[in-house]
Amino acid sequence: MTGKIVLGIESSCDETGVGVVRVDPAGELELLADEVASSVELHARFGGVVPEVASRAHLEAIVPTMRRALTAGGIELSDVDAIAVTCGPGLAGALLVGVAAAKAYAAALDVPLYGVNHLAGHVAADTLEHGRLPAQCLALLVSGGHSQLLRVDDLAGKITEIGSTIDDAAGEAYDKVARVLGLPYPGGPPIDKAARQGDPNAIAFPRGMTGPRDAKFDFSFSGLKTAVARWVEARERDGEPVPVNDVTASFQEAVADVLTAKAVRAAIELGIGTLVISGGVAANSRLSTLAGQRCAEAGIELRVPRPRLCTDNGAMIAAVGAHLVAAGVAPSSLDLSATPALPVHTVSV
Ligand code: KG4
Ligand code: ZN
Repeated sequence: MTGKIVLGIESSCDETGVGVVRVDPAGELELLADEVASSVELHARFGGVVPEVASRAHLEAIVPTMRRALTAGGIELSDVDAIAVTCGPGLAGALLVGVAAAKAYAAALDVPLYGVNHLAGHVAADTLEHGRLPAQCLALLVSGGHSQLLRVDDLAGKITEIGSTIDDAAGEAYDKVARVLGLPYPGGPPIDKAARQGDPNAIAFPRGMTGPRDAKFDFSFSGLKTAVARWVEARERDGEPVPVNDVTASFQEAVADVLTAKAVRAAIELGIGTLVISGGVAANSRLSTLAGQRCAEAGIELRVPRPRLCTDNGAMIAAVGAHLVAAGVAPSSLDLSATPALPVHTVSV
């Protein structure tokens, strides 16, 4: 076997992920395994992730998920050349499980350990599907915990935030609107489905942070979420049925409109020719369609990894580790700690 085998461990939220990636001397990646155990069903009745429940679920899932990944990748632990682990941002207790496991494996196998940034992982996920990124690209990262526009000059070290949400994350808005409408958690998939039967222009919901004085690359979804809740409450008060398909389609249109308009504008203003969209909300059908149209009009290449790679997983963390190994970046020390608020510009610690 040529190249190095990098194992990635993810435990920042409610998915326990272990991925295996091979990186060749030229820096090309090959995905060998991507195993995920999700605790989302344990959180569903609370309408959001419960940190203590997530930590315990990671503890129970980490070793079985590791075993599954090794089997799926057709490798033994002794084949592993480096270990990468999410050390932030994320839930403290959840991160600690992955970091402790990664340290134990790295120490036992005597291989280098890389503590990496979860957000860089979401961007790196795309390199597993579409190959190396161009010298410069813009990443729109939209998940349950994050909504950010990032300028990526080098996946192994230079990522700069150029905009982010000032309140709710895009996925959080989906989850809260789903709750208002009585749809299950997580809200993205049922809203996406219902919206296909609805009219996106039925209700004029607000487009947050799009005024002339607003920061051009920041987002806000809290006002939109409140507007949907008020609209639904008014219908219910009047004893009228709530047209769920039209509400979801109109809400989804507002989210996709703002996200794609700001991302395309940023790419044009910064002179960047490639946009990567990743994170759980990148699985949204309207977001990818509208992004495709607007990028084509502006002559921007659009890259969206398959949904499985968009949501949290260990392969994306292995991918960051592989890029660090290929770039010759120094590994982390074994006293690495979890950093719940790790800033995005810190790709590895
Ligand atoms: O990246 P992810 O799996 O976990 C976090 O890091 O947060 O993202 C989960 C989020 C949830 O808020 C979920 O509602 C949203 O992604 N999501 C979607 C869709 N599928 C998942 N949002 C919109 N449309 C979808 N099809
Ligand atoms: Zn994530």
